[in-house]
Amino acid sequence: MANISIKQVRKSYANSEVVHGVNLEVSTGEFIVILGPSGCGKSTLLRMIAGLESVTAGTILIDDKPVNDLEPHERGCAMVFQNYALYPHMTVAENIGYALKVAGLPKMERATKVSSVAASVGLTEFLDRRPGQLSGGQRQRVAMARAIIREPKVFLFDEPLSNLDAKLRVQMRQEIRRIHNRIRATSIFVTHDQQEGMTLADRLVVMNKGVIEQIGAPEDVYHHPASIYVAGFIGSPAMNFLSGQISATPAAAMLANGERITLPAHVAAAHDGKLAQIGIRPEALSIVPAGSGSFDAVFDFAEELGNARLYHFRFEDLTVSVLSADKPKVKAGVPMGIKVAMDAVHLFDAETGKRLLARGIVLEPVPA
Ligand SMILES: Nc1ncnc2c1ncn2[C@@H]1O[C@H](COP(=O)(O)OP(=O)(O)OP(=O)(O)O)[C@@H](O)[C@H]1O
Ligand SMILES: [Mg+2]
Repeated sequence: MANISIKQVRKSYANSEVVHGVNLEVSTGEFIVILGPSGCGKSTLLRMIAGLESVTAGTILIDDKPVNDLEPHERGCAMVFQNYALYPHMTVAENIGYALKVAGLPKMERATKVSSVAASVGLTEFLDRRPGQLSGGQRQRVAMARAIIREPKVFLFDEPLSNLDAKLRVQMRQEIRRIHNRIRATSIFVTHDQQEGMTLADRLVVMNKGVIEQIGAPEDVYHHPASIYVAGFIGSPAMNFLSGQISATPAAAMLANGERITLPAHVAAAHDGKLAQIGIRPEALSIVPAGSGSFDAVFDFAEELGNARLYHFRFEDLTVSVLSADKPKVKAGVPMGIKVAMDAVHLFDAETGKRLLARGIVLEPVPA
């Protein structure tokens, strides 16, 4: 068990810096997910923690000890990759126990440990098979077991589920969380899948272009995204954005076509005159008769999701999406009213992209 401290860590390849001064404190037993698009530096950061890449500047501490100059095997981390190379000629039991064999552990002790770890990831009945006789998910579990058996202080996962089909991916992420709840090893999990990140993490770290945009509990990041970038990245279907200018009286965001979205008075007053991006999640919008909503938009097409329908409307040159469980009937090309739940509006500074108002103020009702 270990805490990890990342202080002002930078990484450059040749003359180009790809990680720009990252700070992150991970507590013992915590499950951290690093989330971000391809190329944002997730793997690079993880590999620097593991010792597979050198640190250009800054310090990484594990259990309060700087590890910059330690070899990977001296750091107590186990890494689970996307391409977990199992030994094809060995059985599952031999694959899981290999590290202990190399370490010289007696056969009996090894067998006991292998069977206990195999049981913990549901592999007991597969111990005599070879990797070629397993499904992708079962192989993934062997890779997990192989990491667990080393009793690492820290688990590092680099997109371990991205080779699996959608259903297995969900099963395996539940499996990983279940295993974590049991053994509580400090874990850092890298993914570009926001749903995977949301569901697995104690705390989410959202990265963009080599910097951390936001760190927080998944719900907190979802409800209080710190920037337009985070707001657009977290949540599916994705948040809608409209441009507008905030006015104090009437308390509203004025849209380019003269229509307005009503805002809580204290919010509007605090940002009178400011140019803003207005973020509204599709589930915070509803479809009403034309003229009776916050603004009118022309219906384009809908996607059936089973329990709900995702409606796409045209508004100016934008698409506005509305998620509705009521599934109202609408006709293509016909304008409808779009109603905004006022307390669900997110406001971002149009210039900086940062959230306007500290967390808790925009979404909560006016304090008495
Ligand atoms: N060995 C290297 N030499 C030069 N540039 C590299 C090297 N490894 C990574 N990079 C660059 O560093 C940046 C970050 O790469 P990294 O692999 O950390 O991204 P990532 O967030 O893990 O992306 P993905 O989701 O695609 O795996 C990228 O622009 C990449 O091209
Ligand atoms: Mg990567």
